[in-house]
Amino acid sequence: MTSSQTSPFQPDLLAGQVALVTGGGTGIGAGIARALAEHGSDIVLASRKRAHLEPMEAEIRTLGREVLVCEMDVRDRAACDRTVSEALDGLGRIDLLVNNAAGNFLVRAATLSEKGWRAVVDIVLNGTFNMSQAVHSVMRDAGGGAIVNITTTYVTTGAPLMAHSGAAKAGVLNLTRTLAVEWGADGIRVNAVAPGLVEGTEGARRLAESIGYAEVYRKQVPLGRLVHTDDVAAAVLFLASPAASHVTGVEVTVDGGASLGGHFKQVAEAFDTLSQSAEISPRSSPSPS
Ligand code: COA
Repeated sequence: MTSSQTSPFQPDLLAGQVALVTGGGTGIGAGIARALAEHGSDIVLASRKRAHLEPMEAEIRTLGREVLVCEMDVRDRAACDRTVSEALDGLGRIDLLVNNAAGNFLVRAATLSEKGWRAVVDIVLNGTFNMSQAVHSVMRDAGGGAIVNITTTYVTTGAPLMAHSGAAKAGVLNLTRTLAVEWGADGIRVNAVAPGLVEGTEGARRLAESIGYAEVYRKQVPLGRLVHTDDVAAAVLFLASPAASHVTGVEVTVDGGASLGGHFKQVAEAFDTLSQSAEISPRSSPSPS
């Protein structure tokens, strides 16, 4: 959120808490980290490149929150454990883990290299598991916590040119549900947020705008626009908050209705267009006898 004044949530919603956001320096992760800080949480930012985290580190400081930066790779289990230790040493607790770190690129499945497949599955699926397992005992021993995994709407549809990412994110959704069941008794809630195409991110530029797809997609969104990072952050805030204290194992879709199928929107628009040109009208339908 650009300003907590415009937020529907109380500014002290997460006061006294600590959130660890992977990939928290840029794009969706930065939007989530900013929103969490604006609502009272101290923040641990984790990413492969420290330089990616520094602008957000400074921004969170100006919001008056504590912030810790960890240069690490979620593919490396030992690095995940180290990050959790540093977070505890520096900020004393971890209430929320947001598994947002991801990797993706457009490629035909037939020509995707083994190394490319492994790189994306390793970051998205194995990285989510590594970080979740690393925080489990910390949250359990503290009496509970929350994990929010960032998935995607193409988990259910599949996505041409993103076989690696789609399969890995589908695995994350399944893991979300499994961990929700296994860790419920430890007081740990595990949920997911599935964004549609989020504008202004590197992902949108590389995966959609680069092939002219963003505008095609936008026309199919019932609510008429692409996703903003604030939309995703709001869903994370809800799932992290006491308002969701009895919510676990769910995936919240944030896509303006896009995953309902753009062709349905086009059917309605085609009907309106033809109705206006009087080629068809509701009254021309046969009346029931
Ligand atoms: N097209 C085709 N294949 C690609 C590729 C691309 N744009 N990018 C990576 N690969 C494949 C290659 O096969 C590469 O193997 P090679 O070295 O034998 O050619 C393999 O993936 C590993 O790539 P590499 O860049 O060495 O791995 P990495 O672990 O450093 O990073 C990614 C992997 C997926 C994160 C990398 O593509 C990347 O940095 N992407 C940009 C950031 C990003 O994806 N952000 C998320 C946006 S949603």
